[in-house]
Amino acid sequence: ARLVVLVSGSGTNLQALLDAIGDDPAYGAEIVAVGADRDGTGGVERAERAGIPTFVCKVKDHATRGAWDEALAALVAEHRPDLVVSAGFMKIVGPAFLAAFGGRTVNTHPALLPSFPGAHGVRDALAYGVKVTGCTVHFVDDGVDTGPIIAQGVVEVTEEDTPEGEAALHERIKEVERSLLVEAVGRIARDGHRIEGRKVHLGHVGE
Ligand code: GRF
Repeated sequence: ARLVVLVSGSGTNLQALLDAIGDDPAYGAEIVAVGADRDGTGGVERAERAGIPTFVCKVKDHATRGAWDEALAALVAEHRPDLVVSAGFMKIVGPAFLAAFGGRTVNTHPALLPSFPGAHGVRDALAYGVKVTGCTVHFVDDGVDTGPIIAQGVVEVTEEDTPEGEAALHERIKEVERSLLVEAVGRIARDGHRIEGRKVHLGHVGE
């Protein structure tokens, strides 16, 4: 399966996918392009090091948000993806993108959805005083972190996890998240998927 991966940050989720593909010829996917919403991301650097085509699509380079959404969809479409993976991509895609790639765009979020959606899931969970948090891999729909859930992983929150320790907790979550994403993307790439309402069925489509 052809993957386009969208990033905004250091790209460790992207790197996990690159490593899985490199380590296992039977993984069933190839990353054909990496896109970012800003300059200077670690994700684009990792892609360049791997010889993978990259693009940057910035909201401020477009007259309107809708124009950005259309431009992003067009840039992704150039690479004819079977699946789009939002790996720490920190923008909400719009109607044009969803028209083209809805139902085949996967996102990873560092909290147990539907709890703590949005850009500060780790901080919000910590502040709430949860005893467990984790990460969620889900299909993207027209909401914010609201699409059908594919997989989730749990991370214990301990007494040592203070509000100042958000980054440390996020790193523990990212360890689980990377393997959760690699596993989910690989299964979809190899076996296909079907979405029925909020239910995701992995495995041969249509059976
Ligand atoms: C991930 O935890 C993702 O869930 C969140 O931002 C982080 C991105 O990490 N939205 P990286 O860029 O993949 O290292």
